[in-house]
Amino acid sequence: MWLFCIEKYKTFNYNLTFTRINPIELKSINSFLSVHFSCNFDLLIFKLKHQIMPGFELFGELERKELSDVLDNGILMRYGFDVKRKGHWKAKELEKELENQLMVKHAQLVSSGTAAVTIALAAAGIGAGDEVIMPTFTFVASFEAIMMLGAIPILVDIDDTLTLDIEATKNAITSKTKAIMPIHMCGSMANLDALKEICNANNLVLIEDSSQATGATYKGKPLGSIGDLGCLSLDFVKIITAGEGGAVLTNNEKFYKNADHFSDHGHDHVGNDRGAETHPFLGYNFRISELHAAVGLAQLRRLDEFVAIQKKNYSIIRDALSGIPEVTFRTVPEGGEESYSFLNFFLLDLNTARKVSSAFKENGIDACFHYYDNNWHYIRKWEHLKDLKTLYPLSSEVKKGLKYLQTKTYEKSDHYIGRNISCLIKLSWTEEDVIKRADKMVEIIKKTCSQ
Ligand SMILES: Cc1ncc(COP(=O)(O)O)c(C=O)c1O
Repeated sequence: MWLFCIEKYKTFNYNLTFTRINPIELKSINSFLSVHFSCNFDLLIFKLKHQIMPGFELFGELERKELSDVLDNGILMRYGFDVKRKGHWKAKELEKELENQLMVKHAQLVSSGTAAVTIALAAAGIGAGDEVIMPTFTFVASFEAIMMLGAIPILVDIDDTLTLDIEATKNAITSKTKAIMPIHMCGSMANLDALKEICNANNLVLIEDSSQATGATYKGKPLGSIGDLGCLSLDFVKIITAGEGGAVLTNNEKFYKNADHFSDHGHDHVGNDRGAETHPFLGYNFRISELHAAVGLAQLRRLDEFVAIQKKNYSIIRDALSGIPEVTFRTVPEGGEESYSFLNFFLLDLNTARKVSSAFKENGIDACFHYYDNNWHYIRKWEHLKDLKTLYPLSSEVKKGLKYLQTKTYEKSDHYIGRNISCLIKLSWTEEDVIKRADKMVEIIKKTCSQ
């Protein structure tokens, strides 16, 4: 698993939860590492640093306590076994806490963020031949989920918010459009008021994907709670993690019921005899396990603490970079408060951004992403989507619907992503680390811009 993570995080962007560990935890981590990978924690950290791997999750006592409850009673499934589980319902508890903390009526936990997007779309009745508007800068899960349901992703330009451009969104609406799906990338957000207005005017569903911005707010409301549906990921590299997991958020009773049933084979979850439950409609298995929910529960309780650390570190670096005339920052929509998991800034042109990105890497400024050249987050490198490479035949509707990708260009997105660098903000840094890092970044950018 660790080796997989290392490979994955070399190229992926991610948010990071890095908790300080005590000697008891270190002992148990070391025994796990020695059994499975013949190395200890120091060696692992050394390997990670030298592979420019930005970070990973370490679990502390809180996570261990929640996990022990589950292991002690042995019920790993979130539904049923009412007596045997001795009152432990970790998934239900986490759903309640998500509802409270993210200020939403309903949270439905599921197996991943990708599942959450798929379920949110299905819950809103989106399927064959429907069009869903999404941005060119996101994670591949966005179009995967849309296409899994036989719907058609309509990719539109982003602007300096690094999320949906409002004019491009309006222009992409057709008679087939059913939903607009802003992706709140890298800790900040789309202009949700403007998107809400467009959705209301055109009778469209607004689905927020806040997987990368848990902890951020817009006009005082947590991201994910503002649209008709919200989605979040609790995978290993998000600001709070369950290892794997996700959640669908909604204030809409019908969408909630749909998400609840659809994520568990269509079960209606009435009564306490699973075999006797009815299936109002077809579903699938997107369930989260109690083990994952237990970890997520401990992590959610630390969200505010993580955001506060990120904000402190972010502010030091941002203040330092603010003195460079060639640097501008991503626009945060009015009323928005970032999660501070990334500092996103623009340089003068693509060439400068490429040079700064390389110089950062050469000088140990890790975890700063130039997404223009990244395979996972920007349309430029999504050949498998453009060429429709699938294991199974696609419907003729989807094939026809995606033909536009052969010729469509995205100059506005290129303009912003080409000049953008997104730097991960870690929790593990000391103040001294952050100041040193900020000084080095300033030195590199100034030097590159003067050449
Ligand atoms: C914006 C966004 N949406 C969805 C996902 C998918 O989440 P998961 O890895 O939990 O399936 C990710 C994962 O990185 C993401 O960044």
